[in-house]
Amino acid sequence: MTKRYATLVVHKVSAGVQLIELNRPAALNALTTAMLGELSVVMDLAEAEDDIRVLVLTGNRKAFAAGADIKEMAERDLVGILNDPRQQHWQRISRFPKPLVAAVNGVCLGGGCELAMHADIILAGADARFGQPEINLGIMPGAGGTQRLLRAVGKSMAMQMVLTGEPITARQAQQSGLVSEITQPELTVERALAVAASIACKAPLAVRLAKESVLKGMDTDLASGLRFERHAFTVLAGTADRKEGIAAFQEKRKPEFNGQ
Ligand code: HXC
Repeated sequence: MTKRYATLVVHKVSAGVQLIELNRPAALNALTTAMLGELSVVMDLAEAEDDIRVLVLTGNRKAFAAGADIKEMAERDLVGILNDPRQQHWQRISRFPKPLVAAVNGVCLGGGCELAMHADIILAGADARFGQPEINLGIMPGAGGTQRLLRAVGKSMAMQMVLTGEPITARQAQQSGLVSEITQPELTVERALAVAASIACKAPLAVRLAKESVLKGMDTDLASGLRFERHAFTVLAGTADRKEGIAAFQEKRKPEFNGQ
């Protein structure tokens, strides 16, 4: 099933997996407010829908996204930026509780790189380029590009990217920890869908709490992170899916998780 929005195309691909394509190819998928708004709407629907367990976000072969739409940015003054409606959309994307996998080909720059970094897993085609070129426009990243990038690639690489604006290759992104796997560009989406399918058949509550726990670890000290992990682990002890997972192992069969 495919649903077309003005700037997105959304496909229900397989059991539990939905694919979202950014679709402004003439502008290299530059992110407009409308596009981020549509992404928020799709995420609202996906969060509420039990049959959707994992989202895959992609662009096209030439561009994941070349950044925030510069034409739109040019029209925004200080007050416009202070009241920027995009901020709500970014927050919505960052709060999406189910796994989000990004399949990146081509340019992934500025707000595009920041969007990819909202994903839990980034897979990249060999020709992908990641960068934060805002400095070339006399500005700086404003949707997590200094914070999430720092946590993903460490200080030196983050500083180099943010201060020079020069992009890095898929290989460098993988070596730095930004990207988990590199694929041939024509296989990036296929591989991302396979990773998503592998997650989609796991127990949804375990997936949700595991994601939350890893994200917690990104922004807290070790002792607090370990406490959170222990609580989450304990909560899962009360789920039917835990019983099912253990029983299926002992009975040498595949588990059938139902999200309870
Ligand atoms: C609006 C963009 C765009 C962008 C490309 N286009 N990037 N439009 N916003 N970010 C448009 C071009 O204007 C052009 O449209 C068409 O896409 C094709 O782009 P070209 O430049 O002709 O392609 P190419 O020569 O292949 O160069 C690709 C590129 C270059 C290297 C990616 O387009 C580029 O440098 N783009 C800007 C990248 C950037 O600075 N991103 C950061 C934005 S700031 P026309 O109509 O002319 O054919 C940002 C801040 C986030 O992201 C803050 C969040 C709060």
